[in-house]
Amino acid sequence: MLVLGIESSCDETSVAIVKDGKEVLSNVINSQIDIHKLFGGVVPEVASRNHVYQISMVFKQAFIDANIKPEDIDLVAVTKGPGLIGSLLIGVNAAKAFALMYNKPIIGVHHLAGHIYANAIEHDMVFPAIALLVSGGNTELVYMKEHFSFEILGETLDDAVGEAYDKVARVVGLPYPGGPQVDKLAHQGHDTYHLPRVYLEDGSFNFSFSGLKSAVINLVHNNEQRNEETNKEDLCASFQASVVEVLVNKTIALADKLGVKNIIVAGGVSANKGLKEAFMKYENYNISIPSIKYCTDNAAMIAAAGYYQFKKYQKYDDLTINPKANLDLDNE
Ligand code: KG4
Repeated sequence: MLVLGIESSCDETSVAIVKDGKEVLSNVINSQIDIHKLFGGVVPEVASRNHVYQISMVFKQAFIDANIKPEDIDLVAVTKGPGLIGSLLIGVNAAKAFALMYNKPIIGVHHLAGHIYANAIEHDMVFPAIALLVSGGNTELVYMKEHFSFEILGETLDDAVGEAYDKVARVVGLPYPGGPQVDKLAHQGHDTYHLPRVYLEDGSFNFSFSGLKSAVINLVHNNEQRNEETNKEDLCASFQASVVEVLVNKTIALADKLGVKNIIVAGGVSANKGLKEAFMKYENYNISIPSIKYCTDNAAMIAAAGYYQFKKYQKYDDLTINPKANLDLDNE
């Protein structure tokens, strides 16, 4: 089954063609990072405009790379949300236009299901599993009994991990998106600042990162007021040590509580080297983390998710499909 995937939920315009949820024939990604860098973060209106400029060329390139004709496509899978509504609309309308023109079935895919199914491209997903979803907008622990079954057992009460990374990067003076930069500096420093590890007192599997973020901001400001220098490498290493410890410990604790051995890590922050290294120490668990190219937003993951979604439900959407800025994964 040849699935055409389309992703435009934030600042990446991406179109991919994936065979049977695994064989990536093309995965074209046009990133707007260089444009949004000027503003220190994604500007929604600018993002939608750039999706409009790019989408046709990205479509064209995806077919050239895959060396197939539009008529060969069996299913169109498009991100329907959550995300920036203006950005989502461009992808969904492009998907509808293609589906109408070539008379192809269309399905809407949840963006976070896409991140989870990025793992299905290179690994065989084994269930039951715990998925740790860590991105710019989400931090969730999800129990998956089987394919396309999502039960959220923990989530952030305030900032998402990626958001905390981006804010810390800004305070330290690193460009947007800060996650990869903080990760890089963290590997050049040591955990000397011993920042708080936030485990909520209610014993739940929820997360909170705003206190840690404030601790970093206060530390930098106090040092500035005292004319003392902050060691950026050590600060990044300390921040990362705190984040990674909490994410890994909570994921393993939940897996142990449920007697689950399969762990899936997904979302942009799954590209983090420190997180990967920490998880890899748990050799008794079957831990799946996508390659870096499938960690951040891309359409191959949407095509893969679309394939498994269709396999499970055998149901198409129609051309009245509309994107939604807010969409719960567990109502899928
Ligand atoms: O999943 P994603 O591409 O977009 C959505 O939020 O859906 O994730 C982007 C987030 C950004 O906050 C970025 O800073 C973070 O992922 N990120 C990282 C790394 N690479 C990307 N955070 C920490 N370490 C990284 N290596």
